[in-house]
Amino acid sequence: MISVATKENTKELFNLESSVFSKDDFGLSVGSFYYHIKRNHLFVYKQDNKIVGYILWLKRKNNYRLYSLCIKKEFQGQGIATKLLEYSFKILETKSFTLEVKTINKSAIKLYEKNNFKIKKVLKNYYPNNIDGYLMYRSSNGI
Ligand SMILES: CC(C)(COP(=O)(O)OP(=O)(O)OC[C@H]1O[C@@H](n2cnc3c(N)ncnc32)[C@H](O)[C@@H]1OP(=O)(O)O)[C@@H](O)C(=O)NCCC(=O)NCCS
Repeated sequence: MISVATKENTKELFNLESSVFSKDDFGLSVGSFYYHIKRNHLFVYKQDNKIVGYILWLKRKNNYRLYSLCIKKEFQGQGIATKLLEYSFKILETKSFTLEVKTINKSAIKLYEKNNFKIKKVLKNYYPNNIDGYLMYRSSNGI
């Protein structure tokens, strides 16, 4: 059910992202999905041949940075994000994984902590509207 995104998925990914994230967030355009599919690591979770979630990683020198993770509203709370994270940890070869998350996004922080990410730093006013972020870190083996 998890596979690597293809360029045929761009519109569906864009529609999914727009339906989940608020307008204040840095939205990804159709063009940026196309770019990331070609250049980075974008995995999709499909149910009945429809994309219900995706995860996007950017490759850095010594780590992978989680750039976007999104599960369709009706499918949240079913363990899909956990499966996408576990799949990534298995597939992506690296020393570590990093991400930034809003300090107010409690469900995402809980998800990341459950998957062995640790808060490394507070990022003051990292997001629009003076919202702080956390920089989180996980070693490749999760220890
Ligand atoms: C955050 C998000 C990715 C979680 O996806 P999901 O598939 O629902 O997550 P899972 O079902 O794998 O949940 C795993 C754990 O995360 C935590 N969690 C997930 N949703 C939660 C919620 N609404 N409230 C509290 N904890 C939550 C729980 O600890 C959960 O484990 P549990 O079910 O054993 O308690 C999803 O809610 C989402 O797409 N949110 C909007 C976009 C977003 O915030 N993305 C992350 C940006 S950094």
